[in-house]
Amino acid sequence: MPIVPGENPLTTPSVRLGKALFFEKGLSRTGTLSCAGCHFPERAFSDTVPRSAGVNGDLGMRNAPSLANVAYHPALFRDGGVPNLELQVLAPIHDDLEMDHDINAAAGDLRDREPYATLSQQAYGKPLDAYVITRALANYERTLLSGWSRYDRFVHLADGNALSEQELRGLDLFNSSATGCVSCHSGQDLSDHAFYNIGQYVDYADPGRERITQDPGDLGKFKVPTLRNIALSPPLHARRNDGYLGAGDRPLRQRRAAASEQKPFVDTIHFEPHRAR
Ligand code: HEC
Ligand code: HEC
Repeated sequence: MPIVPGENPLTTPSVRLGKALFFEKGLSRTGTLSCAGCHFPERAFSDTVPRSAGVNGDLGMRNAPSLANVAYHPALFRDGGVPNLELQVLAPIHDDLEMDHDINAAAGDLRDREPYATLSQQAYGKPLDAYVITRALANYERTLLSGWSRYDRFVHLADGNALSEQELRGLDLFNSSATGCVSCHSGQDLSDHAFYNIGQYVDYADPGRERITQDPGDLGKFKVPTLRNIALSPPLHARRNDGYLGAGDRPLRQRRAAASEQKPFVDTIHFEPHRAR
């Protein structure tokens, strides 16, 4: 089930307001960058570059993920550091690597403009403020659902024509114990939304989940991303230390060997699809 907090019911005016805000550049200090400037709708709400530039021209730490099905995520960000969509809104608006603004200042600037004045009253019975902005954006994001693909027609309707033979072979492999892909990329969202270290690096410039829990056992663990719309969302989970997956300072094969030595739990088979990119 999607996660909808009781205090923020999913209403039509709140979603319409959230949609307008998602494309509103006035949420950034310079008035030049909206949420959609890094989460492009035509790219399944992900970015086209390994790491996105904020209003000051500086690159952020991680690759902007697709927002498809975020309503189902128990925690946001690749390290799970933010517990819900409402709170998440504050991060890009205030981050000096992203929109570098202040949500109260942005609300003050937009409050008397349309459609904000009208929709804010309809949705939450008061003028636009930080409460309204965070709630409305969260509700719009809850409507970004991805589901009815050829894959779904095959799985749910047993439509034998939905996938090509090659795709069926890939699906068999994906679901096989030989690859184990489906043990983490499972369920409707092709993600169990848990955190794993898949052994991409020996030294993690981005500590991943450890940054949040301070538990050394969580070093290099990241949230399993959905594989829906994957063809639309490259480059994939780039990091500060490589810019693009597989284009690191050492050949991946070498890094894999080193990582397997140090971390015996690493599933080496997992590297094959990445290497094929
Ligand atoms: C400068 C580019 C940029 C802008 C602007 C931006 N984002 Fe993001 N967004 C990112 C990056 C990068 C991440 C991944 C951060 C991480 O995992 O630490 C992210 C992650 C997210 C996530 C978490 C997704 C997940 O799978 O956990 C949500 C939700 C989100 N952004 C919504 C928004 C909203 C709403 C706005 C506008 C208020 C916004 N973003 C503006 C770059 C951006
Ligand atoms: C142990 C759990 C686990 C298994 C098994 C696993 N993955 Fe992943 N996968 C992850 C995690 C975690 C990430 C994100 C890593 C990161 O953010 O650095 C990921 C990332 C990916 C990505 C990049 C997606 C994106 O949007 O960035 C693809 C594609 C992928 N996996 C495909 C596969 C395939 C194909 C298999 C089987 C060969 C597989 N995975 C097996 C956990 C797993």
